[in-house]
Amino acid sequence: MARNVGYRNTVESPDPSVQVSSSPAIAISSTLCHRPQTVQIQVEQEPPQNSPAAATMAAARPGLNILVFLGSVREGRMALRVGRYVQQLLEKRQHKVTILDPKELNLGEVEQPLHFYKDPSLAPVILHQINKQIQEADGFVVVSAEYNSGMTPALASIMDNFPPVSYGYRPSAIVTYSMGQFGGIRAAMQLRQFLSELTTVHMSSMIVIPKVHESLSEEGSATSDSLARASEAMCKQLEWYAHALKTERNTNGIPK
Ligand SMILES: Cc1cc2nc3c(=O)[nH]c(=O)nc-3n(C[C@H](O)[C@H](O)[C@H](O)COP(=O)(O)O)c2cc1C
Repeated sequence: MARNVGYRNTVESPDPSVQVSSSPAIAISSTLCHRPQTVQIQVEQEPPQNSPAAATMAAARPGLNILVFLGSVREGRMALRVGRYVQQLLEKRQHKVTILDPKELNLGEVEQPLHFYKDPSLAPVILHQINKQIQEADGFVVVSAEYNSGMTPALASIMDNFPPVSYGYRPSAIVTYSMGQFGGIRAAMQLRQFLSELTTVHMSSMIVIPKVHESLSEEGSATSDSLARASEAMCKQLEWYAHALKTERNTNGIPK
């Protein structure tokens, strides 16, 4: 049954045997009909630009504090250009972006995660500093190449140092890349599991960048429109969840 929710419009059906109607929403489920089915497919749409609703929405949505984790320490890594792309993308949308680069932070392998110290005051100061940044973030973006069909060890290593509760009940968005044609999609699938374990809510829209060395310049500029479209979709989800979860955390706290 069609629900009445805010700004919506119709889209083309991917199935040519199905006609998509833009008339008011009545979905005819019809194995009995001899005519092709008419199906109302609805998608969320933002209010028209410059409308009062758009202005209210913009005013109600201050910039977010987003932490971006990079996942490579390799000499000649592509991670930096992907990180730059993500940073520019989010900054254009008025968000504050902090990049956590495992190469700069130089934490090495996980020797003792912060939450495994019997006396946390004995943990290195840097771990406390990063933990505070994680706790203060409204959301996360993780940037990973695909190494042997999975996420990179450098990304797991940096994130494993901190307790799931620090990441807890915040949204996470996945950005993967590879020099091949699949864009690190297998790493992305693994990341969904990993990010759930950290009690983040991962976004279904992801940025997956094939042939990263051609798709992005060293400065992080995209060479195709398709990347821009995927990025827009991911950002909108991240923003929606970040605001919704922040409100809920601030109002009702998190489960104990
Ligand atoms: C150890 C290692 C394993 C890799 N495994 C894969 C893989 O399974 N699938 C793939 O598409 N690319 C794979 N690649 C290629 C990387 O995706 C590509 O080199 C990418 O640029 C690596 O990211 P980085 O440059 O930021 O380190 C691998 C690269 C390395 C170094």
